[in-house]
Amino acid sequence: MLREMVLSFIGSGNMAEAMIRGLIARQLMPPENIVAAGPRRERGRELARQYHVRWTQDNSAAAREADILVLSVKPQVLPKVWPEIKSYLKEELLVISIVAGARISTLSQNTGRTQIVRAMPNTPGQIGKGMTVWTATDAVPSVRRTQANAILGALGEEIFVGDESYLDMATALSGTGPAYVFLFMEAMIDAGVHMGFSRHVAEKLVLQTIEGSVAIARESKRHPAVLRNRVTSPGGTSAEALYQLEKGGLRTVVSKAIWAAYQRSKLLGDMSEGKKA
Ligand SMILES: NC(=O)c1ccc[n+]([C@@H]2O[C@H](COP(=O)([O-])OP(=O)(O)OC[C@H]3O[C@@H](n4cnc5c(N)ncnc54)[C@H](OP(=O)(O)O)[C@@H]3O)[C@@H](O)[C@H]2O)c1
Repeated sequence: MLREMVLSFIGSGNMAEAMIRGLIARQLMPPENIVAAGPRRERGRELARQYHVRWTQDNSAAAREADILVLSVKPQVLPKVWPEIKSYLKEELLVISIVAGARISTLSQNTGRTQIVRAMPNTPGQIGKGMTVWTATDAVPSVRRTQANAILGALGEEIFVGDESYLDMATALSGTGPAYVFLFMEAMIDAGVHMGFSRHVAEKLVLQTIEGSVAIARESKRHPAVLRNRVTSPGGTSAEALYQLEKGGLRTVVSKAIWAAYQRSKLLGDMSEGKKA
């Protein structure tokens, strides 16, 4: 399905490497059909050495060859990239963007192409444990959707949504989500150290507890409140700790934080289209 295609990455950083790694590990594409474009020669050589992909410092050359073009630069770099690629794109090109905030209208206008996939991955994608939410324009035929699905699946789990507005919501929930989890993790580890554990032991306890809790939630398929009630005995330690968490407004602050991230994501999208904040 993908084997006959040339897939070019404009921007060969962490996320591009994660996709390349996944594509090759799953034998979805031969490495010689993958082109990684980026400004640093050492980076290109490193990718070529590790994954046997082709690399170039010339975005136009990478774009010219592509049947599928993945835009994987930072948002502020996109305006520099457009003039370098626009006149070289194939007519039937599929554009896949993982650039945070870049809207389909912007992508379509600046590439002059109609087959556009917009995706929001997250950091665990770098080790194949990501959650990617994606959508596609109506012009993307089903065979191309299947290809996009496979490419994004190289980062871990993926889910298709029928409306672009879900991308801003996904940015706030799963895209930014690892930051919330890391903060909670850090707070638990620090509390462990406060009580007297060494940092090393506190880290082990917290990481395994979070991993185990996720596993049990997945396996049991129970509502989190049911799982929480099961470990909360009357007058016990969980009841006391949960009382303090609720009193401190944990649930409200989490909800407010995610809502704020959602509003921020929409604003950044507006700003990337040149609208004033
Ligand atoms: N990381 C995540 O978890 C995550 C999650 C969701 C969305 N995203 C989105 O994914 C995109 C890539 O993120 P990332 O974490 O992979 O960033 P990254 O590691 O910084 O990768 C960006 C790459 O683009 C290269 N670059 C810079 N200027 C360029 C140019 N003019 N032409 C071509 N390449 C250029 C950079 O090269 P140098 O290193 O030499 O500057 C770098 O290798 C971003 O738009 C981000 O919003 C990332």
